[in-house]
Amino acid sequence: MSASVIIVDTQQKFRHKLIIQRPSSGLSLQGRIRVPGDKSISHRALMLGAIAQGETQIQGLLLGEDPRSTASCFQAMGAEISELNADLVKVKGIGLGNLQEPPDVLNAGNSGTTLRLMLGLLASHQGRFFTVTGDSSLRSRPMSRVVKPLQQMGAQIWGRKNASIAPLAIQGQSLKATHYHSPIASAQVKSCVLLAGLMTEGKTTVTEPALSRDHSERMLKAFGAKLDTDSDTNSVTITGGIQLYGQNVIVPGDISSAAFWLVAAAIVPDSELTIENVGVNPTRTGILEALEMMGADIVRENQREVAGEPVADLRVRSSKLKSCTIAGDIIPRMIDEIPILAVAAAFAEGTTVIKDAAELRVKESDRIAVMTQQLNKMGAKVTELPDGMEITGGTPLTGVDLDSFTDHRIAMSLAIAALNASGTTNIDRAEAASISYPDFFDTLKGIICS
Ligand code: S3P
Repeated sequence: MSASVIIVDTQQKFRHKLIIQRPSSGLSLQGRIRVPGDKSISHRALMLGAIAQGETQIQGLLLGEDPRSTASCFQAMGAEISELNADLVKVKGIGLGNLQEPPDVLNAGNSGTTLRLMLGLLASHQGRFFTVTGDSSLRSRPMSRVVKPLQQMGAQIWGRKNASIAPLAIQGQSLKATHYHSPIASAQVKSCVLLAGLMTEGKTTVTEPALSRDHSERMLKAFGAKLDTDSDTNSVTITGGIQLYGQNVIVPGDISSAAFWLVAAAIVPDSELTIENVGVNPTRTGILEALEMMGADIVRENQREVAGEPVADLRVRSSKLKSCTIAGDIIPRMIDEIPILAVAAAFAEGTTVIKDAAELRVKESDRIAVMTQQLNKMGAKVTELPDGMEITGGTPLTGVDLDSFTDHRIAMSLAIAALNASGTTNIDRAEAASISYPDFFDTLKGIICS
């Protein structure tokens, strides 16, 4: 029997069940592939393009549902954005301070980045009123982490539970510059405050306990903002009131998407994949370091810099993995890759410990609870910790009925686990992958050799 990866519709419209059936003779993964554009950089290119003066051209934009949410919110506030395609998107910016009051609610869909970053801009648009919401997952995620620093700057924001969850209403104000000490290492919090600071007279500083991804800092500088970073204290300061100018942005492949293939090729015997054009910004490469610690055979080829971001081709071959401990400052540098790292750990020798990752509980799903439950259903040995997981690898996994809980990274992580599980795995609500990786299942079909 040959390997088969079939996507079938269930009774419910738009709800897909993914069936992965592994042949008893095994399979391997081979090929050279590309992953879609980086999600974080795609959001920022659309946002900065929208508020800059002049035209921004974006090559390699991610066409997932999350950046589409960002585009539609900024179109509703007056930015002209051409049809989204990966070759070229043109954004006609409206200039600093010129976002228009939208006549309807702004809907960020499933995207925390859209909502949290946008709040910094909305709160600082004096005299304009905005209402924002999202899907049921986003409406349950904490917004106080951005509402609090904005209120410290004088923002007026209302919502249920003390303005801590969406829907939120914002009356734009002239804000006052502040120094915000964030209790969490979060690029969304940092970027929200920096975007509010962009519109605020004086210097606004954010300090975080560990360095989170720095795409906002890089892109703001490229668009002409005045930014000073202090790497000793993980602080960044923006000087307000400086106009941004449209730029050409080339979006590298998303390392968070590449991570699924890195782990897939590492755990499926006799595999070799090259993933071309992957962003390897050091604030995002925790997954490479973690997999290397586990003994994965990953080589960075053709390293270069493209439009201010480091890029490389990643070649990965299968190898025998061993356990590791992941904690501390590496966590924010691989926060989105922990579900797929848990899959790698389930196939590694020994007990992998993941700590200091309580943030996973407030992502698109509670990723600690969901990964523990779903991997254990397959026969893995995973113990849930308050801030992580303990995973003892090496027990064979068996195909069963699983659920993505509508979380894109869970859907894709479970699909990779299924490649190495005996029998048939059914993943309900697998269509969630399209949030960040619409072609995931097509790419998967293309690399399977049996
Ligand atoms: C993102 C930051 C991260 C990450 C998210 C994208 C961004 O969230 O999990 O997928 O683009 O700024 P936090 O900053 O809240 O950790």
